[in-house]
Amino acid sequence: MTNGKRQNKLLVYSGAAAIAAVAFNVAIFFINAHRRRKERKELPGSNVRVNLSAKEINALADEIIAESKKIHDLVASVPPEKVTYANAILPLAELEAKQFPLIQSCIFPKMISISDDVRGASVEAEKKIDSHFLMCRKREDVYRVVKAFVDKGEWLNLETKCFIECLIRDFQRNGVFLNLSQKKTLENLKSQIDSQSLQYIKNLNEDCTFLLFNESELSGMPLEFIKSLEKTEKGKLKVSLRSNHVSPILEYCKVGDTRKLVSLKHGQRCGNDNLLILENLVQLRHQYAQLLGYASYADYAIEPRMAKSSAKVLEFLDELSHNLIDLAKGEFEILKALKQKEEGDSPFGIEDTLYYMKRAEEQYLDADFDVINQMFPVNLVVNGIFRTLQDLFGLKFDEIDDVEVWHDSVRIFSVSDFSCNELLGYFYFDMFPREGKYTHTCVLALQNGCSFSNAIRQVPIALLLSQLPKQIHDNSGLLKFSEVVSLFHEFGHVIHQLCNRVSFSRLSGLRIESDFFEIPGLMLENWCYESSSLRLLSGFNQENAKPITSEMCRVLKKRRDSFSGLKLKQEIFLSVIDQMIHSSENVDIVDLVKHLHPKVMLGIPILEGTNPASCYPRLAVGHEASCYAYLWSEVFSADIFSSKFQGDLMNQYAGLQFRNKVFAPGGGKDPLEILTEYLGREPSIHAYIKMKTTNSLGYNQSLLK
Ligand SMILES: *[C@@H]1O[C@H](CO)[C@@H](O)[C@H](O)[C@H]1NC(C)=O
Ligand SMILES: *[C@@H]1O[C@H](CO)[C@@H](O)[C@H](O)[C@H]1NC(C)=O
Ligand SMILES: *[C@@H]1O[C@H](CO)[C@@H](O)[C@H](O)[C@H]1NC(C)=O
Ligand SMILES: *[C@@H]1O[C@H](CO)[C@@H](O)[C@H](O)[C@H]1NC(C)=O
Ligand SMILES: [Zn+2]
Repeated sequence: MTNGKRQNKLLVYSGAAAIAAVAFNVAIFFINAHRRRKERKELPGSNVRVNLSAKEINALADEIIAESKKIHDLVASVPPEKVTYANAILPLAELEAKQFPLIQSCIFPKMISISDDVRGASVEAEKKIDSHFLMCRKREDVYRVVKAFVDKGEWLNLETKCFIECLIRDFQRNGVFLNLSQKKTLENLKSQIDSQSLQYIKNLNEDCTFLLFNESELSGMPLEFIKSLEKTEKGKLKVSLRSNHVSPILEYCKVGDTRKLVSLKHGQRCGNDNLLILENLVQLRHQYAQLLGYASYADYAIEPRMAKSSAKVLEFLDELSHNLIDLAKGEFEILKALKQKEEGDSPFGIEDTLYYMKRAEEQYLDADFDVINQMFPVNLVVNGIFRTLQDLFGLKFDEIDDVEVWHDSVRIFSVSDFSCNELLGYFYFDMFPREGKYTHTCVLALQNGCSFSNAIRQVPIALLLSQLPKQIHDNSGLLKFSEVVSLFHEFGHVIHQLCNRVSFSRLSGLRIESDFFEIPGLMLENWCYESSSLRLLSGFNQENAKPITSEMCRVLKKRRDSFSGLKLKQEIFLSVIDQMIHSSENVDIVDLVKHLHPKVMLGIPILEGTNPASCYPRLAVGHEASCYAYLWSEVFSADIFSSKFQGDLMNQYAGLQFRNKVFAPGGGKDPLEILTEYLGREPSIHAYIKMKTTNSLGYNQSLLK
């Protein structure tokens, strides 16, 4: 605050300079621009191998494993009294740095190759490589050497310390210090956990319960939906419990009894079977964590994350829940009033929430999505994202058009520093869907930024896979608004990967733990909701001159945040259950759910007989003890946005600081310290609460009249 003036001057200067420079680059992105067909070269500084054949992938995987085994054996052979950084740590660090791009070269073809053979070879290679490296992390002989080095207590810089801590932690989390019988127990627990997790998912996937309704019981449903339903001989309509049936019914069906029955059956799926499995899983995980020396599974899962302990997570969820009470209450009043208007005095149940949220949005936040979804031609959006990122973070993107790629439609860009022209890295942009390609949008690290002992720096390389619509005739393909947001988000991961300056591949941008990892992407999503920045990405398809209006922006933002009090409380409810069941050995899950729901959800009881524990896969598989992570990232991303960028979206000073203080240190520094240093104080939940409150419908009681 105190030196705000100085910062602003700097900003005016660098902002204008950057915009001028960016103007030269605006034309870089044209989807069907003619591209010279030259002999394709290798990308300078890249160790990634693209377009490998199945045979080559196989051979490379074997080479990787052989080389890794050689280096691990070499380190293991160092006598404890002779360990030095150069013979114990450096070989492992350099092995990882060199092998990462090669490993990715084997693994990423499974997501992009048009050939079945290549994808198959890639999947096999990944299995082989994974199991090799898991074995390495269990090697006691290597662990002893690394530990001997740590015990010497040499002075190390922060990053090196961090790297060695990661190494040690990996070994320890894999049970390297256990005796033989304990190791067997650990492995046994692991395989039981894996098979029970699979069973939980399998039960859900195989559930084919359906309900029968007649048309009047489905009143309110769009005709298309009704037509899509299978009919029984007696003319009843068959509704499954899959989300493509359940969600629309809960949002549109006017008949309260139908909504309630669908809600009930949906929340009862796999009832006792999966509940038993989850109880069993919780116990197995608890034993697993205790064997490794942790008080609980939650502590084991959260140790490497920004939150660090389960207690901290619970405190966060509790504080958030508490601060959302007023907002949620206001929203609940609106829903109750709407229900009373439409259905009279029947009591409001949890199964009514989606339906009346939808009605309220239709009534108060009418946005013409047919028009809005015409406003984002791919060319404009991508150009706009490029311009925004370049200007904000002081970067320069240049297309390179004569290097080797795996498909002719794949583009590649170099990213350099705007003021000193230093090459920071590259990203591949594989834009369009095609057969065999991964069907979601995502970012992969292909090569990690790091420095070798000979002072040579390896530049980071990212790959962005997306599913942009292709140009048809003269019309550029159009993106839906939600796709614009998700593309912007993914670019946050790209920039994160490219702007880190760490020395160790292990600490590179995308290796960061999951509750911190989403912060840049979630922060950048905010640029899609402010008219000054959204304007850069939009134009009406037929008449390019017509960008999005500020009124449209206002409605989009309100829709994003509508009923967030209640929606977030629902999320908090599930996250608290997740923490609590993974914090001790034996929790009565049914009792916990029954008790906790009204406590978090403003007194509304859970629908009698339902239990998320039996049909909410995130509790059971893959996100156990970390359901809170996304919310955590979202809350702190709002803090950064509101204190550094809101009202000054092109604040290049804040952008450069973000690059230097948040992106640059990667995983080489404690994430809480990173954020605290950037913000000049500890991160807080209040900006997030304020953002949700300001944009909420619930805030404005005059709506009820
Ligand atoms: C392994 O360690 C546990 C716990 O310290 C001990 O109870 C057990 O006897 C040990 N087993 C063997 C075979 O050494
Ligand atoms: C639909 O089912 C309900 C409940 O079973 C019944 O009361 C109603 O008469 C049925 N309507 C028609 C048109 O068959
Ligand atoms: C990839 O390799 C295949 C077979 O080796 C070759 O036919 C194809 O042209 C290559 N694709 C590109 C884009 O270089
Ligand atoms: C509440 O809504 C009314 C009507 O839509 C509007 O005129 C008023 O400014 C709003 N008040 C607040 C505090 O947002
Ligand atoms: Zn993300």
